[in-house]
Amino acid sequence: MHRHALFRKKTRSSGIWLRLLWGFGYFGVTVATLLSVLLLPALLSKFKMQSEENHSFLHQKQVHFIQVTDDVHTQAKTNNSRRSLRSREKHLQNLWRHPPTRGFEPCVSPSKDYSGIENPRGYLLVHANGGLNQMRAGICDMVAVARLINATLVIPQLDKRSFWKDSSTFSDVFDEEYFIKSLEKDIPIVRKLPKELSTALKAHKNFRSWSSAAYYQEEITRLWDDYKVIHAAKSDSRLANNDLPSDIQKLRCRVHYDALRFAPSIEAFGRNLLERMRSKGPFIALHLRYEKDMLAFSGCSHGLSSMQMEELTRIRESTSHWRVKLIDPKEQRLKGLCPLTPKEVGIFLEALGYPSTTRIYIAAGEIYGGNYSMAALQARFPNLLNKELLASPYELAPFRRYASQLAALDYIVSVNSDVFVPSYSGNMARAVEGHRRFLGHWKTISPDRSMDVNYCNYPMVWHAHLL
Ligand SMILES: *[C@@H]1O[C@H](CO)[C@@H](O)[C@H](O)[C@H]1NC(C)=O
Ligand SMILES: *[C@@H]1O[C@H](CO)[C@@H](O)[C@H](O)[C@H]1NC(C)=O
Ligand SMILES: *[C@@H]1O[C@H](CO)[C@@H](O)[C@H](O)[C@H]1NC(C)=O
Ligand SMILES: *[C@@H]1O[C@H](CO)[C@@H](O)[C@H](O)[C@H]1NC(C)=O
Repeated sequence: MHRHALFRKKTRSSGIWLRLLWGFGYFGVTVATLLSVLLLPALLSKFKMQSEENHSFLHQKQVHFIQVTDDVHTQAKTNNSRRSLRSREKHLQNLWRHPPTRGFEPCVSPSKDYSGIENPRGYLLVHANGGLNQMRAGICDMVAVARLINATLVIPQLDKRSFWKDSSTFSDVFDEEYFIKSLEKDIPIVRKLPKELSTALKAHKNFRSWSSAAYYQEEITRLWDDYKVIHAAKSDSRLANNDLPSDIQKLRCRVHYDALRFAPSIEAFGRNLLERMRSKGPFIALHLRYEKDMLAFSGCSHGLSSMQMEELTRIRESTSHWRVKLIDPKEQRLKGLCPLTPKEVGIFLEALGYPSTTRIYIAAGEIYGGNYSMAALQARFPNLLNKELLASPYELAPFRRYASQLAALDYIVSVNSDVFVPSYSGNMARAVEGHRRFLGHWKTISPDRSMDVNYCNYPMVWHAHLL
């Protein structure tokens, strides 16, 4: 329930919106339709209009299936072609329109009785782990942990051993000075452990995953009796939301949405890419999670050749910190645990009614299978762009060898895009979706992957969450 505190309604509300907003995780329309690609736009716009007129519709997390026979299909096609120009235009506008804010605005300022740490008991050293967005989430948690245990935070070390082998330091990726300054009323932050403590005995800890505030305030705080330095070997232990004091939750949000700004050179170039996308009108940022590490990790091999499957299996088996080695790709896919393939994304966007001229920014690392994998998406949406196409090799050179800096550029473009579509609900998808909601309830469309793949395999029945 504390999450409710993060948005405040400007006008008085019954509270029901809050519950609905967070309870479902989405505050969009749940629309489900089946159909041929041509038919969907007509049905979709109907559902949308209906939803705008009757909000209670929004909150019934219902799935509407319409079984379409060939006959109906033909009829609908005809009906569709008869739709007036005006309603088509309206439909097009709706595709780009953000959901209503209904008066909710961010509310992350500390409460009156909140104060920073007065007497820090010791130092918290953190080794962030994972890719950029996992580290970001982890750092937000670790700032909250430092506040809970009255610690001085030492600027976290970024992961240099992950899949991406990125040697960037914290200040290469984030604006270190701003980070320290913007949190000065919450926790003390230092760049380095003081010299006299560098050889001190440290308490090395893997914090228990999904622990509540009590675990840190009791069990971890007791370590101060024996140690001046606590070293968190990983940052992804994820602080549980349950019963977290609302001021701590607000602090986490301030870190995520404000304090963790990217380094000035990344921020500036990200904005530059954004302007290049924007200059020609509205665009979709597609987080296409179809990179080698994702496919290897998840075991999702739909549509790949046997040679590719072998390569991915080999990577999975030889990566020690990926514990699950045996995976049934079909089962993963049907459970909705796989990212959509580029082709599925193409069918999905086309079905939503985005015209083929739509400009799409591909936020991704190197797509597995390259142009071959992208062909079916490119055929539907020829205007696919990415960092490499928007910028010269010379401009990209300073970032090229650093996966987390390249990911940061994609993050900036994605957060500020007109519509954000993630093909997989990983760390980046969730961070960007939350950030967009925070900045103004900007539209995010999250495909329901278990439904989508089912109906990509069989006749076309579609189910989408429109946000
Ligand atoms: C809104 O939709 C619900 C459920 O479909 C219905 O019960 C209710 O009467 C509708 N309200 C209005 C104002 O149309
Ligand atoms: C198409 O229009 C006809 C006549 O207006 C209507 O009977 C039929 O149900 C419509 N079909 C679909 C799929 O909307
Ligand atoms: C942190 O310090 C405050 C006083 O500054 C104290 O009230 C609180 O109990 C301390 N918390 C822990 C977990 O030590
Ligand atoms: C992939 O496509 C892009 C543009 O569509 C082209 O510039 C590039 O050379 C292609 N790469 C390969 C390996 O075919």
